[in-house]
Formats: sequence, C-alpha cells, structure tokens
Amino acid sequence: MVKIVIENLAQKELSDVDSSKSILNVLQSHFIDWMHACGGKGRCTTCKMIVVEGMGQLSPPSPAELKYSGLGQLAENERMACQTRALGSCRIRVPEESKLPHMDYTS
Ligand code: FES
Repeated sequence: MVKIVIENLAQKELSDVDSSKSILNVLQSHFIDWMHACGGKGRCTTCKMIVVEGMGQLSPPSPAELKYSGLGQLAENERMACQTRALGSCRIRVPEESKLPHMDYTS
C-alpha cells in the first residue's frame, strides 16, 4: 500500500495512494490545499515539495523538472507535485516559499 506523509501538515497521512495520479492530484482528492500557480502544467515550480524520505519511490523526473533543476530552481531533494507520481511510500514537506496563508503548518 502506497502512503504519503506530509510532515509539516501535522504528519498528515494519505494511505492507499493511487500511483497512476500525480501527487498534486492525490493531495487535491484528499482536499489538501497545495500551491499550483500554473494549474499543474509543469510551468511554474510553486507545487514543489521537499522529499524527506522515499525519493527512490517516486516516478522519474519529467522533462519540466529536469529543466527547472538545470535552472537551479529545483533542489536535489525537491520534486514538483504536479509532475511526480508516488510508486511507493514517501515523506514530504511543504517548502517555506510554497506555504499558503490560510493553512496551519506545523514544524
Ligand atoms: S503547478 Fe506549476 S509546475 Fe506544478
């Protein structure tokens, strides 16, 4: 069973994750607000997430992610939620710059 834990959203645990959907879509289907300025088209990076554990469980980087990595806008421990599928379990965090004002983040 694929599971995603969001550390700084009070260790919120999403279980039974659909590996055919982007992580952004999975978050949305669990009613978790996540920044996605370009609408999930791979044209911003506002949907980025910090991957704390399970980087090897994620789908390979998309061309958009490779482009933004090359531009220095995506760190080695970051992925774009709209471009990434969880093939196995992982732990993620919302980066400081992608936090939404109405959400209650934890440490
Ligand atoms: S929402 Fe813009 S790149 Fe993911």
